[in-house]
Amino acid sequence: MLAETDANARLQPAKPASYRLPPVVQPVWRWRDLLLGSANASLEALRAELCRRYGMRHCLLLDRARSGLYLLCKSFALDREWIITTLMHRPSCVLLQNQCAGVVFAEVDEHMTIDPASVERLANASTCAILATHTYGKAADVAALRAIADARGLFLVENAVHMASGCQVGGRAIGSWGDATVLSFNVDKPLGAILGGALLTNRDDVWQAVCKYDLGTANAEEMRERVRTTYVAYRLKPMILRLPAGRAHRDANDGVAEIEKFDAGTYKTYTARRIHPLQAKVALACLRREEELLQRRRSNAQLLIDRLRDLEWLQLPESSAAQPHTYTYFPLVLRQGSRFELGAHLAARGIETKWRLPPLHLQAGFQHARRDNLERSVQLWAQHLLLPAGCATSTEQIEFLAASVRQR
Ligand SMILES: Cc1ncc(COP(=O)(O)O)c(C=O)c1O
Repeated sequence: MLAETDANARLQPAKPASYRLPPVVQPVWRWRDLLLGSANASLEALRAELCRRYGMRHCLLLDRARSGLYLLCKSFALDREWIITTLMHRPSCVLLQNQCAGVVFAEVDEHMTIDPASVERLANASTCAILATHTYGKAADVAALRAIADARGLFLVENAVHMASGCQVGGRAIGSWGDATVLSFNVDKPLGAILGGALLTNRDDVWQAVCKYDLGTANAEEMRERVRTTYVAYRLKPMILRLPAGRAHRDANDGVAEIEKFDAGTYKTYTARRIHPLQAKVALACLRREEELLQRRRSNAQLLIDRLRDLEWLQLPESSAAQPHTYTYFPLVLRQGSRFELGAHLAARGIETKWRLPPLHLQAGFQHARRDNLERSVQLWAQHLLLPAGCATSTEQIEFLAASVRQR
């Protein structure tokens, strides 16, 4: 795959020997979020706050976002084809593919979000749903997608796992344009908590259907494991990678193979579970800090954009009234040169970079799915790199990051 364009296309850049900036994924949760307040009272408070911030009337708290997709397939009979993009999270799409008639790949726009014109080209009598992923925190064109869904009688799902709450398009909250919206509270998502997720809807028929579904009990072991792994893998990462035992994890590795290890046969059976009360408590504490965090991500992103704007070899992320960006991730797209080389150059200066979401239609289990021409998806993916411009990065660090990119 992609060997003709860049021999290193499948490789994640090596990690820095010594970090000068925080890593790309910056956890938000703190130890005291686990300790303060009542976990059971947090369930109701989190539900109410999510409804308010995403502009939806109903909220079902779950163990993860993908459980919301599962419930829509099983309890609301969205079991024909779903139109999605190829730049999507593999396990969620494996689940979808195993629970509905299949996924169909639409092309993306220049922001890596689903292109409404491509959805129009693909929609037919077999289609039941459109999944609009707000990739990396950039809103998909929800107004155009809503119009298509209404005209064709399709169900619109907003995949808002990368999208911070409280953003509006045309006076309407992002998250409320869909017939249903899924959220994730995992450490690499806007809330940066310890897993958990939600399904939101304004439709009473959807709400009644999903509420009838018998959810599995919360997975306490998984919750404890998340506390451990998110702390070790993200907070302590810069320190651990300096130790002799951590050195092996610094090397460039085949990121596509890593993702493909999630077998396409998994999730033939699946249990959608309740959120664990402690996960709800931590998510609520993080949600209460979200406005401040979003402001920091936005001001970091704006500063970085200002510093790099004149570089013609770069395409920078953009925010607009119709498609606001919340910069959960900051993707650079290289118009020239190799992202792997830029990643290596930045790693030598103590800056971690990475990429996510390799095209599904080029991966095992998805090659035969119906699809539009996906040239732009492949190109944007192969040329993009995520920079550590999150809420834990300081202004001085952003200046250093910008200067380091300019020195390429
Ligand atoms: C784009 C995207 N969609 C969906 C998901 C699934 O979220 P969860 O792990 O809560 O099921 C992820 C998780 O990484 C994701 O990145």
